[in-house]
Formats: sequence, structure tokens, C-alpha cells
Amino acid sequence: MSTTSTVDFLHKPGPTSLAELKVTTPTTVVIFGATGDLTARKLLPAFFQLWSQKLLPDALSIVGVARRPFPDNAFRDMMHEAIVKYADAGTVSAEQWQAFASHVHYQQVEFDDPAGYAALARRLEEIETAQGTSCQRLFYLATAPSFFLDIIENLGQVGLIRDAKDRCPSRVIIEKPFGHDLASALQLNRDITRILAEEQIYRIDHYLGKETVLNILSFRFGNAIFETLFNSRHVDHVQITVAESIGMEGRRGAFYETAGALRDVVQNHGLQLLCLAAMEPPAVLTSKGIHDEKVKVLQSLRIMEPSQVARDVVRGQYVAGSTVDGQHVPAYRSEEGVQPRSTTETYVALRLYIDNWRWAGVPFYLRTGKRLPQRVTEIAVQFKQPPLHFFTTVECIGDVCDISQAKPNQLVFRIQPDEGISLIFSAKRPGMLFQIHPVQMDFLYNRSFKVKIPEAYERLLLDALRGDSTLFMRSDEVETAWRYVDPILQAWRAPGAPPLHFYEAGTWGPQDADRLMDNGRSWRTPAV
Ligand code: BG6
Repeated sequence: MSTTSTVDFLHKPGPTSLAELKVTTPTTVVIFGATGDLTARKLLPAFFQLWSQKLLPDALSIVGVARRPFPDNAFRDMMHEAIVKYADAGTVSAEQWQAFASHVHYQQVEFDDPAGYAALARRLEEIETAQGTSCQRLFYLATAPSFFLDIIENLGQVGLIRDAKDRCPSRVIIEKPFGHDLASALQLNRDITRILAEEQIYRIDHYLGKETVLNILSFRFGNAIFETLFNSRHVDHVQITVAESIGMEGRRGAFYETAGALRDVVQNHGLQLLCLAAMEPPAVLTSKGIHDEKVKVLQSLRIMEPSQVARDVVRGQYVAGSTVDGQHVPAYRSEEGVQPRSTTETYVALRLYIDNWRWAGVPFYLRTGKRLPQRVTEIAVQFKQPPLHFFTTVECIGDVCDISQAKPNQLVFRIQPDEGISLIFSAKRPGMLFQIHPVQMDFLYNRSFKVKIPEAYERLLLDALRGDSTLFMRSDEVETAWRYVDPILQAWRAPGAPPLHFYEAGTWGPQDADRLMDNGRSWRTPAV
């Protein structure tokens, strides 16, 4: 009789070959905001990659929609340029492009003009009839958030939204930001669910499509040895870093002024990473199972009173300085579209607590910022020190070794770049002395798997076309995340609000963030 207590299949195993992932239903994709940056950099290149891998249906139409007038051909040329630049497809051959381009169309629509949607409906019918693509529709809203509701209402008005249960359903992907605070997110959810069922709404957070973000789940729940250590008995604290070296890139200032780092990254990417690092294993690996567990983490976050915001949150804004590559860069306040006396935060660091049985008392530190020394996203789980220090720890740079503090074990999920997982532990230094030295054991994607890592948008678009919303955000997830962030925004607006600290571009943020690290802890400097 077997002595193992492993349950083999709690659910149907997923697809085992790429061919099983191919979408076969005739499909029309309609991208609102088709002349914008996201379409050129991410969406069209992702569709092209999926199409090159034969994962899209043969009956496929992609219709770009935006306010400027363009003939189909001019739009195709623009997209061709984008794909050559961003698709990472090696050389895109003329034949390949011609074949793909025949699926691509353009329609001008003023987003708030009902007449434009009637014209869009006629155009879609024409295209769908000519290309045999009249079945499922995927609408992608890559516009300013102020248009989300207008677009959905107008699509509903002209009958372009088919029921979720229909053999040929319509689905809508909504880009972030989903609301700018709790009240607006609740309102938007209420408004759009008058027209769409929850299973038709795909709220995107592209971090959830990143291979290494998904690997957090497989690492935790596909291995037996680490998960048992992921709790307050063994973990001292967790550090989540989403650092960027870029600033406003001359074009995002006006948008960023309305957002700031807390709304732009913490409310979504940051809290999603925290959920994946902290959640319980779901009973079954289904979309609902995963969403339910993530929501429980968000619900357990300790909401901050204004005095706690002053103690546990540090906000900063960059002033002029040098970036990693030695280039001098301007202050945030001198960026295009930014107010000269702006108080928008380009950096935020928080100490968060998850008040549940697993994590009670374990601080989670989350920091994000623009114009930091490097682009790096990682989650570092720092374990407690052993109960007794028997050995002397030394650290060496070249041949010069110094006695140092004992180094705790760390498990680091490197989300980007140099994707991988590292375990830091102490080993005996060779020689007569009994000294230990911190060493690092690395798993690197590009060394272990010699395959290209798919772009986040490729996975997410394919999932949406296949009707799988696991990696999209459910309404309660977005709302609960805002419920946590809202009191911080309010405390920042209130009289006597905690100060905004300035940091030089190219540094790791304001020094004040160090005070969050109590009990001898310190921020990690991610390895280059
Ligand atoms: C976006 C933010 O959601 O994520 C941007 O709006 C940020 O400000 C970007 O630059 C970071 O994404 P990535 O994939 O480059 O880490």
C-alpha cells in the first residue's frame, strides 16, 4: 500500500500541448485607442507573435479604432513599423507581414459620439462577413480611463455586445487604472455591470501575465520544501521592489500627475505581487479558487489610520540627477506636462501587515519608484536567524575579508530582468578557520530553459480569447485593493499630511524610507 498522502488530480490537468491552446472560434478583436503607445508597443506585437505561433484562429479580424482618421493602409504601415521595432520576432519577413496585415483594419470613431458606433457596427459586419470572422468579439479598451464607460455604453446601445453565455460571446478587456480611488472604482463596476456580466469583464494587470510572476505560484505550490516555511514562524519579513530607471519619457507627465506611484503601481502590480507571495493554496486550481485566495489576502491587510500612514508610508519625488548610464536627467517637476510645484509622488515605500494566521506580525515592505538606479522587480523573503550563532561570518571582496553580521537566509524571486530564483545561505569558507560566508544558489530562466519567455500581453490576450479570466482582476479584488489604498491617499490630502521627500534621480529613493526598516533590517540592493 502506498504511504504517500499526495492527492494526484484535484482537477482536470490543463492543456499539455501548444496546439490545444489554439483559438479556433472565428474572432474579431476591436482595439479602442489603436493609435496610442500601448497598441504599438504591446498589443499589435503580441497579436502578431500569437498569430506567428499559429495560436490565433484562421478566421481573424483585428480592427483598430481611434479618433484620428486613417485609411486602412496607413494604419497597417504604422503597425508594421511597430511590429518590426517591438515584436522581437527576428526579421519579420515581407510575406509574413502581408499575410498578417490582411487581418488588420482601421475605423475612426469619436469615443463619445453614438453615431460613430453605428458606423462601427456596420463596418464590423462588413469585415466579419468578408473575412468569415463573425463569432466571438474581444473589445480592448486601451484609451484614457475617462472613456471606458462611454465606450461600453455605446457598444451596448448599438448591439455589439453579445451575451457571455452566447456561443459567440463578447468580452471586454479594460486597461488600468480601474478607477482612481475606491468610490470611482465602485461606481465604474456598478456602471459597467449594467451592460456586461462579470465573466465578460477582463480587468488587466499585465504583471499577472509575466512568466516569473506566475512562477511564484508554481514554486510555492509545486514544491513541498519551501511552502512549509512561508509563515510567521520562519519568515522575518518580505521585501517587494518594483524599481524603474525611466522617468516620464517626455510623454507620460500629464497622465502621471493624475496618478502617482501609489495609484500607478502599488494599488495594482505591487499588491498583486504581495497576494501571490502571501496567499493560501487554493482548494482547487481554478480561476475562482485563485481569486478567492487573493481577495482574502487583500481583506487581511491592516488598514492604516492617518498616524500609521505617517509612520509606515514614505513618499518621495525625484529631483535632477544622473541615471545608471551616467546621463543627466531633469527633475520630475521639469518634465513635460508636470506642474512646477507638483506634489505627485514618484516613489513610495510602505510597511504593510497581513493580519491573518499565517502572517501575523510579519512586516511586508513594498517600494516602487521612477528614476531609481536600475529597472528591477523582485520579491525577497527573508527568513529568521538561526536561534544560536555558532560561527563567525565573514564577507570578502576579492581577497579582503571582514567579519560581518550573520546573514539571514533569503529567497529571492527575480521577476525582471535576469528572471530567476535565488537562495542565499551560509556555507563554510574553505580553510582551517571555522568561518561561514554567505553564498547564493541561482536558478536562471535563460540558463535552465533555452526558450524565449513570452511577453505578458501575449499570454493575457490568448487567455482572454480563450475565455480564461484567471489572470485578470475580479471586481472584488480591485475594490479591496482600493479599500486599502484609499486611507493613504486621504491622509496625504489631509491638513498636516506627512511630507513629500525629495531624492536625486539615480538613487534608491529618499533616505527617510530607511526608517521603515526597524529591528536591524535594511533594504536590499538588488544585484545588477
Ligand atoms: C505600468 C505603469 O502599469 O507599468 C508604468 O503605468 C510602469 O508607469 C509600467 O512603467 C511598468 O511595467 P513593466 O512591465 O515595464 O515593469
